[in-house]
Amino acid sequence: MAIRSLLQLKHLGARVFSTAAKEPAKGLLMGTGRGRATSFLRAGDLGVPAAWTNMVCLRFPALGIRNGSTLALGEEEQKTGVQTGSTGFPADGSGNKAIFSYWNITPARVTKDDGTSWKWSCFRPIDSYNANLSIDLKKHHQPRSFVDKLAYRTIKALRYPTDLFFQKRYGCRAMMLETVAAIPGVAAGILLHLRSLRRFEHSGGWIKALLEEAENERMHLMTFMEVSQPKWYERALVFSVQGIFFNAYLLTYLISPKLAHRAVGYLEEEAIHSYTEFLNELDKGTIENVPAPAIAIDYWRLPPNSTLRDVVVAVRADEAHHRDVNHFASDIHNQGYELRETAAPLGYH
Ligand SMILES: [Fe+2]
Ligand SMILES: [Fe+2]
Repeated sequence: MAIRSLLQLKHLGARVFSTAAKEPAKGLLMGTGRGRATSFLRAGDLGVPAAWTNMVCLRFPALGIRNGSTLALGEEEQKTGVQTGSTGFPADGSGNKAIFSYWNITPARVTKDDGTSWKWSCFRPIDSYNANLSIDLKKHHQPRSFVDKLAYRTIKALRYPTDLFFQKRYGCRAMMLETVAAIPGVAAGILLHLRSLRRFEHSGGWIKALLEEAENERMHLMTFMEVSQPKWYERALVFSVQGIFFNAYLLTYLISPKLAHRAVGYLEEEAIHSYTEFLNELDKGTIENVPAPAIAIDYWRLPPNSTLRDVVVAVRADEAHHRDVNHFASDIHNQGYELRETAAPLGYH
């Protein structure tokens, strides 16, 4: 056992130090840039034993590699005489890529269906989709059990302060609520992931489904950010609400996933209602129907001349899908099953 640990440590050591120059720990001590190898103090110069500097590097391997790579870059430049820009291409415009570092791995070039280049690094064409607008927006789960009623009344009670705070500022309201909407999927996804590891069992696809939902909600936020910017006190509110809501939801999920999913199901019903009001205001002209943000056009594969109204319609359809997924998850628990026993509705949007 001890021998294996030593071998693992040896392997780790090689990885930590191999991309850097032979004495990368010095870069850590000095925080130096490229080409300053000769100005480094040795560990002994600082009165620090060499073993300590190595330990620092092992404790912060990422820092060591970044500094080490930068140092290696300086050496490479000295060796080849080629000045490279931040992208790793020579500044002379020759286009020949200098191999100097594992930092900044260049992603494959992605194009749209029409051959033009894809401008988003946060999602790919494979993540984009046509929103299913035919979904029933009026479906409502009638609360019957104690858990259902608790979830329903909690969400209804939360609506009052929300209405009071935002009034008819639907753009701002959408943006702010989307900062919260992704939290349930993240929290539940984390817990199911840990359970899968802990119990050596499959998840039935629910980890992916819930994280997909969280990512979809985050894309709603990335979209509404383009049409509304938060004020400083709204940012402060998001900061506080995130801390409280994440922990509250995590705890609720640990105690009763049935309650947690049911509450999200009702939250999504409220979201559908809010987006319907948003659309009413757009139709009345009290909110300007501006052109759709470019990110929304690519994410929902909308026509190039789409407007904010088209975006809100797509987002509302997404919320209806989240409603179904979460009520379904709660029903599974209500029937006495675990989520993993029923296949998750992956790609349901
Ligand atoms: Fe959303
Ligand atoms: Fe949602």
